Amino acid sequence: MTTRRPRSLRGAIVGFGNVAVEGHLPAWRQHKLFDIVAVCDPSEARLGLAAELLPTARRYAIVDELLRRERLDFVDVATPPASHTEVVLAALAKRVAVLCEKPLTTRWDELRRIRSAASAARAVVFTTHNWKYAPIIRTAKRTLRRGDLGAVSHVRLETIRTAPPSDAGGASTWRLDPAAAGGGILVDHGWHAFYLARHLVDAEPVAISAVTSQRKFTTAGVEDTAECTIEFPHARAEIFLTWAGDARRNSGTVAGSSGTLTIADDTLVTTIADRAPVETRFAQPLSAGSYHPDWFAAMLDDFHAELHDPTVRGDNLREAEACCRLLERGYQSSAAGGARLALVEPPAPAAADPASGE
Ligand SMILES: NC(=O)c1ccc[n+]([C@@H]2O[C@H](COP(=O)([O-])OP(=O)(O)OC[C@H]3O[C@@H](n4cnc5c(N)ncnc54)[C@H](O)[C@@H]3O)[C@@H](O)[C@H]2O)c1
Repeated sequence: MTTRRPRSLRGAIVGFGNVAVEGHLPAWRQHKLFDIVAVCDPSEARLGLAAELLPTARRYAIVDELLRRERLDFVDVATPPASHTEVVLAALAKRVAVLCEKPLTTRWDELRRIRSAASAARAVVFTTHNWKYAPIIRTAKRTLRRGDLGAVSHVRLETIRTAPPSDAGGASTWRLDPAAAGGGILVDHGWHAFYLARHLVDAEPVAISAVTSQRKFTTAGVEDTAECTIEFPHARAEIFLTWAGDARRNSGTVAGSSGTLTIADDTLVTTIADRAPVETRFAQPLSAGSYHPDWFAAMLDDFHAELHDPTVRGDNLREAEACCRLLERGYQSSAAGGARLALVEPPAPAAADPASGE
């Protein structure tokens, strides 16, 4: 008896910039269960590149036209952050599943609309939380799952850069424009640090305090440096992020009741109780490159699982909700001088009272 292979899912990339080309495309190409049939980008130059790299894919400059003319199973949204919500909602209105680059959205009211639309369309919304799939993080997580460290009580994550990455136009970058980016390094790297902290602690965050500052890009209108403390019921995470550093590196520590993990770019040191520390070297430092096609490829299996398995559907959206809440409350905390703010979900806006005529 022959078993039939499931048909491959038809997708379109929306936003054919750096991360789409360098980070997503190599992974889509090698995955047998996905097929990229169309590309959408307003830039003629980027559509020209799409014609070279994906000659059989149809090309569109406008998302609505893409969604009107193509029969799609999913879209891969890789535009700058300010357009994510609009594109995601347009896809969900057509019952098309969404894989979206981080941040899904920087605003809680928008996240709520996305959640309702996904639920109405019974469609998956999955944010690219690719750092979870870095080999060093996966190894650390396996150690934590085995319980070798005991209960995790403290996490520290640091991302040091000398500048934000440049954009597909090669000019400075939308990352320093608050209207396009929705914030500075707290949006760009904070989102990654938030889901990583939640993943490593394995609990929901309950409060945040944050202080953002401008140390190098002082005319940018967004912060280039952020320090946060996130409280979990039984643990605390500290996060330090900067584009004003003197070098490029990522580091971290996870401390538990019976051991410690230390990450220094390509090196993981595991120290359990009174045993000698074990050092593991990885092929790539965590800070190498900005686009990580191998992490994206590893993540696609979980995207595929959410599309087909109702028991795991929504796991990733809950993770994105935590990030969005931390982001919004983080900025509010910074505006309040670093005050500790609880992460309770605000009540839904009251429905308009028909009697009031509003
Ligand atoms: N997960 C990661 O590791 C990672 C790494 C880099 C970037 N990102 C995220 O990916 C997204 C894109 O970043 P990038 O570095 O590729 O930016 P980029 O500027 O290189 O590319 C963005 C592309 O989107 C296109 N675009 C803009 N508005 C559009 C619209 N309405 N419809 C269709 N296309 C549109 C632009 O023309 C450009 O080609 C951002 O959300 C960023 O945060 C994630």
